[in-house]
Amino acid sequence: MNNLNNNFNISEIITRKRDGLELSTDEIQYFIDGYVKDEIKDYQAAALLMAIYIRGLNGRELADLTQIMMLSGDHISLDDIEGKKIDKHSTGGVGDKVSFIVSPLVAASGVKVPMLSGRSLGHTGGTLDKLESIPGMNISLDTDAFKRVLKDVGMVICGQTANIVPADRKLYALRDTTATVNSIPLICASIMSKKLALGTDGMVLDVKTGSGAFMRKMEDSMELCKTMVATGEKAGRTTIGLITDMDQPLGNNVGNSLEIMESIEALKGNGPADLMEVTFHLGAAMLMAAGVETDFNQAMVRLEKALKSGEPLRIFREFIAAQEGNAAVCDDYSLFPQCKFQEPLKAKSTGYIEKIDAYEVGMAAIDIGAGRRKKEDAIDYGAGFVFHKKVGDKIKKGEAILTIYTNNPGCIEGAKERLKKAILISDEKVSKPKMVHFMLQKQ
Ligand code: URA
Repeated sequence: MNNLNNNFNISEIITRKRDGLELSTDEIQYFIDGYVKDEIKDYQAAALLMAIYIRGLNGRELADLTQIMMLSGDHISLDDIEGKKIDKHSTGGVGDKVSFIVSPLVAASGVKVPMLSGRSLGHTGGTLDKLESIPGMNISLDTDAFKRVLKDVGMVICGQTANIVPADRKLYALRDTTATVNSIPLICASIMSKKLALGTDGMVLDVKTGSGAFMRKMEDSMELCKTMVATGEKAGRTTIGLITDMDQPLGNNVGNSLEIMESIEALKGNGPADLMEVTFHLGAAMLMAAGVETDFNQAMVRLEKALKSGEPLRIFREFIAAQEGNAAVCDDYSLFPQCKFQEPLKAKSTGYIEKIDAYEVGMAAIDIGAGRRKKEDAIDYGAGFVFHKKVGDKIKKGEAILTIYTNNPGCIEGAKERLKKAILISDEKVSKPKMVHFMLQKQ
């Protein structure tokens, strides 16, 4: 990397982006190098992120940012591991636990699944936080351990270590607390730099749309999806993007250990329909990206057979054990962190659930301790919600819509108030939402 420190001034770079000018490759390089080395401070980086958030990046700037972020750390070659390797990444949502189900499902179908994941961001939960609710689970693997788990088990999920895309690790935490998350170029560069740092054969991108997504509107989700698919293909990786529903939480459980429990149930064949629909679509796209199936319906059938065989659950247990977690949680949920307080939220009227605002549910989850307000906040791993009713379901007055789990009784009333406003009940019948809106791939 060039040492450009003397040629640029971060405040000039911020000014140029603030005023809507294009940043050169060298300016982007200077920013990323300086931030990773702590020479550029959080407050300066935050100002530049906000300028990018407001002004955007053109195609060249985005390609440069993605590439430079990727090169900020090591590239993990997976060439010495046999078989096809396909990664999946979601743009983030509420109750999104697909990674824990789809990875063993796809691994059981003969394709290896390596994933570098993140922590909670804004109102959305983080894959790593969820995994850490499993006692003993180690999500900080070095490259050798990462490859060993992938080779032995067929799947691996861990965080970016200090030397894998350090630029994203720092920027991600900063964006989380500076209102700069939901920007198409920043999400694209964040996700794609991590994806490209891993030497996979291809990837599947789950772009969420709706109230709990960073891109709430379909047109924005579509633009993000197209941008990421084009970035992946340009880098020579088979890339398939799906746009899936995030207008209400996915599945029934929201919160770290609650989501792992729901994933284990799904691997036992008891997953809720909305969660399984999204999981099977993403899994089928992964088998297609790997080239082991060319027909989407055939790929779905293969995944269904795999689920019935019980092999994905066996792989999930092995994955937990390989990353030092207690795999006995799969048979005994009392081994997860528990909550002292449980409180139902009851329906005020009889009718049909019309809306469950996923963003508000995500914020209420933070209120009860399941997420973070500041990057150094501790998480209550057992806290969260279990929904007994979802959009389209019939409900009677007084019946529980959901149960709140927390260790902090003082936050229950506030969470109930927020949730009451987030959930609408209609007198008229409401249909179940469509879960998978589009699939995009290079023709
Ligand atoms: N997931 C990521 O890894 N980065 C983002 O910016 C958003 C979701």
